[in-house]
Amino acid sequence: MTKPKVLLTRKLAEPILAYLQEHLDCTMWDQEGSMPRAELEAKIHDYEGVMLSGGPINASFLEKAPRLRVVSSVSVGYNHFDIEAMRARRVIGTHTPYVLDDTVADLVLALMLSAGRRVAELDAFVKQGNWKKGGVKEEQLFGMDVHHATVGIIGMGRIGEAIAKRAVHGFDMKLLYHSRTAKPDIEARFGGRFCSLEELLKEADYVVLMTPLSPETAKLIRAEHFDLMKPTAFFINASRGQTVDEQALTQALQQGKIRGAGLDVFELEPVSPDNPLLKLPNVVTLPHIGSATDQTRYEMAKLAAHNLVGALTGGKVHVVPEL
Ligand code: DGY
Repeated sequence: MTKPKVLLTRKLAEPILAYLQEHLDCTMWDQEGSMPRAELEAKIHDYEGVMLSGGPINASFLEKAPRLRVVSSVSVGYNHFDIEAMRARRVIGTHTPYVLDDTVADLVLALMLSAGRRVAELDAFVKQGNWKKGGVKEEQLFGMDVHHATVGIIGMGRIGEAIAKRAVHGFDMKLLYHSRTAKPDIEARFGGRFCSLEELLKEADYVVLMTPLSPETAKLIRAEHFDLMKPTAFFINASRGQTVDEQALTQALQQGKIRGAGLDVFELEPVSPDNPLLKLPNVVTLPHIGSATDQTRYEMAKLAAHNLVGALTGGKVHVVPEL
């Protein structure tokens, strides 16, 4: 029996590739990074499946892919899928939930600690030779505690839950959360409280934005929301840059409406070197590395491979919720 033809847009570890080759006829991008978009669009015509991690997978892409049945994304977020266009073409979209929850939650705690205790800023201070006798007053290096502070998590999914566990059990933080519905199991386990977005913004010392990007959550946090936050509070975003009005965030930071921010994501990625957020010492910036560890990226690729094989051979797959 002929195997379905699939395109793999990144180099994969040997065991994952071997598993895919057992079931599928694979063409893998063998250079560094991922296959350029132009190359993907030129090649996709003949393939029934593709493994990738970016998009957009929209009507114009699908027109170039008449045989395509499955798009397996090596990511939990799937905002690069145009759900309507994929539905219309009956193309299955899969993603990689569960395997990255702890890794992303670790990074959120790192952003909270780094912003609150000014780790990145003061690392630069030391390395630039500014730590000297008779230099700045000690108080100028003070930060804000993370332990026993209030964390407000917007978007209480699996990653939100992993953050709550670390914050409450590890740092004795008080938990507020806002999501589509209240989660009694979370409240039972972590003593947290479900509240409105406004109440969360007013009370939290660390506001953590963890909601997936969708038409409902695009620019969810805007100028009026920063106005509600405490001047001592920090804003942490490890979801998608488009869930916040980045200009409003920049202004809130420049005008001292909030004390600082920890950002793993930006409206445009890679972020432009001219982005004013990069000029602010009270903002910790990272290049979208929430899930980027050796172990987790391996597990994500393995799950994406299982999704691709499953979708093309009738097995179990993690189809994205809306498809
Ligand atoms: C995800 O899996 O969605 C992470 O943000 C990496 O893109």
